[in-house]
Amino acid sequence: LFKDEVTLHFVDRNGTKLTIEAEVGDNLLDVAKDADIDGVEGACGGTLACSTCHCIFQEEDFERLGLEDIDEDELDMLDLAFGLTDTSRLVCAIEVTEGMDGIEIKVPIATNDARGA
Ligand code: FES
Repeated sequence: LFKDEVTLHFVDRNGTKLTIEAEVGDNLLDVAKDADIDGVEGACGGTLACSTCHCIFQEEDFERLGLEDIDEDELDMLDLAFGLTDTSRLVCAIEVTEGMDGIEIKVPIATNDARGA
């Protein structure tokens, strides 16, 4: 089965830019973990229970890709994320799509593991 690849630009927690290839349909947390993006922890293993996979999209991408359409479960957890923005998402809830080709995804400087405390 042929899978399309897209190019994604990550800016990790140190501000370092990394360009990677990802396959359409892949889970964005898996993609970030495979690429060792610093600051994307995914401590709960992608079960929407930790908020350590928090990433920030650019405004124009957020709207264009329909990323503002967020499930209740994710919203609850997102609220606990460190440095929440209007274009924040938990990437374990996101699948790579064709339209993501060339986008920039920013990793916040810190994470908050909502399972702690
Ligand atoms: Fe824990 Fe996404 S990996 S919420």
